[in-house]
Amino acid sequence: MLVHYFVAFFLLSAIHLNVYALKSYSQYQLWRLNVTNNEQVAKLHDFSRIAYQQNINFWSERFRKNIPIDVSIAPESINSFAKFLSSDDMKIQYDVIMKDIGAVIERQKLIDKLQPSSVYADDFAYDKYHPINEIDAWIDKMVQTYPTLATSFTVGKSYEKREMKGLKISSNKTAVKLDGTPVNEKKAVWWDGGIHAREWISPATVIYIVHALLSNYSKNPIITHFVDQFDYYILPVFNVDGYAYTWTNDRLWRKTRSKTSDPNCFGADPNRNWDYHWCEGGATHDPCDEIYCGSKPFSEIETAQVAKFIGTHNSTLVHYINFHSYSQLWMTPWGYTTKKPVQFKLQDDGSAKAVQALRAVFGTEYVHGNIGATIYVASGNTVDWTSGTANITFSYAVELRDTGEYGFLLPEDQIVPSGKETLAGELALLKYIEGKVYA
Ligand SMILES: *[C@@H]1O[C@H](CO)[C@@H](O)[C@H](O)[C@H]1NC(C)=O
Ligand SMILES: *[C@@H]1O[C@H](CO)[C@@H](O)[C@H](O)[C@H]1NC(C)=O
Ligand SMILES: *[C@@H]1O[C@H](CO)[C@@H](O)[C@H](O)[C@H]1NC(C)=O
Ligand SMILES: *[C@@H]1O[C@H](CO)[C@@H](O)[C@H](O)[C@H]1NC(C)=O
Ligand SMILES: *[C@@H]1O[C@H](CO)[C@@H](O)[C@H](O)[C@H]1NC(C)=O
Ligand SMILES: [Zn+2]
Repeated sequence: MLVHYFVAFFLLSAIHLNVYALKSYSQYQLWRLNVTNNEQVAKLHDFSRIAYQQNINFWSERFRKNIPIDVSIAPESINSFAKFLSSDDMKIQYDVIMKDIGAVIERQKLIDKLQPSSVYADDFAYDKYHPINEIDAWIDKMVQTYPTLATSFTVGKSYEKREMKGLKISSNKTAVKLDGTPVNEKKAVWWDGGIHAREWISPATVIYIVHALLSNYSKNPIITHFVDQFDYYILPVFNVDGYAYTWTNDRLWRKTRSKTSDPNCFGADPNRNWDYHWCEGGATHDPCDEIYCGSKPFSEIETAQVAKFIGTHNSTLVHYINFHSYSQLWMTPWGYTTKKPVQFKLQDDGSAKAVQALRAVFGTEYVHGNIGATIYVASGNTVDWTSGTANITFSYAVELRDTGEYGFLLPEDQIVPSGKETLAGELALLKYIEGKVYA
């Protein structure tokens, strides 16, 4: 009886903690590892697949020599991980770049509360991060404010039955070819943010860009031109359940929130779940892993529904961006292999235009190239499918700010700068794409 009471009490407290308390990262550290040869890279990459067992989490997805690898370590694993890194066959040097991740999360909450936001005329703070209900309300607000340009759409409901709500921008002007003659069919663009839940700057940047397009239409000639030339489908938060979870339970959650074969582990990586060379490399069948590919291709209802939407709109879609953070990379397929697709130069020349225009705004440096060579192999990813299966040639995976000073915990005062520079990069890329598809 007493035992039952205690078990019940324990369960209730555990449930209580899970539902109401934000996971504590108190005394968790972020280390930056200096890897100088391919052997170290390979060994670390192997280790990264079992690291969760020790509460060690690789923030970096990029595994390349001479590029720092950021890793978060729970307090209880600090000593063992330090030993592992200094062992004879590793000899990896590292710096502690955050002594207490929990304190950084807390401090940001405090600063964000104290700082008044510069609310724009449209009554939404573009320099703040917003929970999912505010983002959904913002979409409605945009539709009300810009009724001749904006409509909302849904790609369906998530695993936890949230609406996956998007916004479409479409003007009533006919698109024109480079020589000024009208085109028969206006081409379309897709952008999404928040496929990985903790990458908060990606929805925030997408939201900034959408507002910049809508509010400057018929005022700024360049923006007016590109709004007239393409239709835009925008899904600010792809992984709605995961994103909601980062606000209520765990700021550093990445995956979806579906049940898996392991009762203790939830979610799959929605950027490894697509049905194109699914789970071949840089993805795992381990449901506890951050790069779990799911039980089958499109096991996650979120990826399945976006794929369905894309698959029924790809007669007009010519351009796709899957926005992530962090690392400052503008990337193209393939991710499943280090080989490049035949149209690589056509795609990557667009990336070059984007990063050049982006850099011109504040000097922020982005690197461009194919995913397999730039990060590491990552199969079943979004843009391999959008280009390989849905035939959207100009498919890009963009990793936004920063390069690891704050990583996923990018302060709010970088939202507007990120929005401005990314908009400049994207306008340059649209100009490039326009030149190819409306020639
Ligand atoms: C790691 O590399 C960076 C850049 O090359 C350097 O500044 C830093 O001192 C290195 N840290 C260690 C611990 O070797
Ligand atoms: C086209 O949209 C503009 C506003 O963007 C509006 O003023 C105009 O009346 C619309 N024209 C037609 C034919 O719907
Ligand atoms: C677009 O609009 C926003 C806010 O309405 C403004 O701050 C920004 O400077 C404009 N951008 C361009 C390129 O005109
Ligand atoms: C559109 O995508 C589907 C996959 O959903 C593909 O089978 C089809 O060939 C694509 N259509 C075009 C025109 O590329
Ligand atoms: C894929 O797109 C290219 C042009 O971008 C086109 O030539 C080709 O026919 C398309 N393939 C399919 C299967 O629709
Ligand atoms: Zn990501």
